[in-house]
Amino acid sequence: MTTLSQTKVNILDVGYTAYQVTDLDLMERFLIDFGMTRSARTDGAVYMRGTGSNHHVHVARLGSENKFLGGCLVVASREELDKAALIPGAVGPEAITEPGGGWRVTLTTPNKHTIWVEWGVAKVPEMPVRRSYRMNFASEHLRHNSAVRQRPEATPVLRIGHFVLWVPEAVPEIDWFMQHFAMAPADFICAHSDNPPGQEPVVGTFLRVDRGAEYVEHHCILINQSIHYGCHHSSYEVLDLDAVMAGHDHLVAKGWKLDAGVGRHYLGSLIYDYWLDPFGQRIEHYTDTDMINHEYVPVRFVGSADETTQWGMAPPSTFFE
Ligand SMILES: [Fe+2]
Repeated sequence: MTTLSQTKVNILDVGYTAYQVTDLDLMERFLIDFGMTRSARTDGAVYMRGTGSNHHVHVARLGSENKFLGGCLVVASREELDKAALIPGAVGPEAITEPGGGWRVTLTTPNKHTIWVEWGVAKVPEMPVRRSYRMNFASEHLRHNSAVRQRPEATPVLRIGHFVLWVPEAVPEIDWFMQHFAMAPADFICAHSDNPPGQEPVVGTFLRVDRGAEYVEHHCILINQSIHYGCHHSSYEVLDLDAVMAGHDHLVAKGWKLDAGVGRHYLGSLIYDYWLDPFGQRIEHYTDTDMINHEYVPVRFVGSADETTQWGMAPPSTFFE
């Protein structure tokens, strides 16, 4: 059963992340190889979509320096948008004067990140995708009289799944999201300390949408305390493991820069493949993440960077700074 909060903002999904870049053509070329499709382009911005119905899942705005601009959370109704407008410091609701239209409330987090809450943005027709390849596990054979045929390709991005904020102070940022949005912690990342088990200082938290008994993805936002500021990565869901590998081979062939992958994370269990866009921003393909609900018991993870990967190409040490 789905439970919606009466007081907090209930989000439908992540909408998009936005970056400022110095070259829109270069960014678009990379994102097409990454598996996105142009939804709209203006003199100052390019809006890229996945195969789903959201008008865009990635926005690049032309500017003099390359930087993260903010992340968007989508709500299902004007009532939810109006709730967001009551959050201290909120600007809006305002009509969006960009492709797709709709309405937007602009928020600033305790660590000065920009979060847009949007409603009423135009939908686009879903694009056809192949069916996920079922797997013939030793214990259970799911694919009968049906072959796997997967060539390297710009693997279709389905949707944006999550983004990760770097912040100087994690705890107030985490508290802010949970105070204002119907979100709950999935797992905690804790620092090594002499504190008793269970009382290690929290330096990161995976936040999931809280819909009570309804199963949701392990996280929609991760807050990570860091010496860096901005967005650690934006992450896009693809169909299955074959889709991840097909996209990986395609990006290799196109000469783009691999960051880390393919591998399987420990927290959230997702199969990941991280790339760097032409401006050094990290971007991820993922598949097969954990689906959890209110019965899930968060893990307090106190481990090394290596231990966040179960198998595959572990991220470099700089990944966790
Ligand atoms: Fe991720």
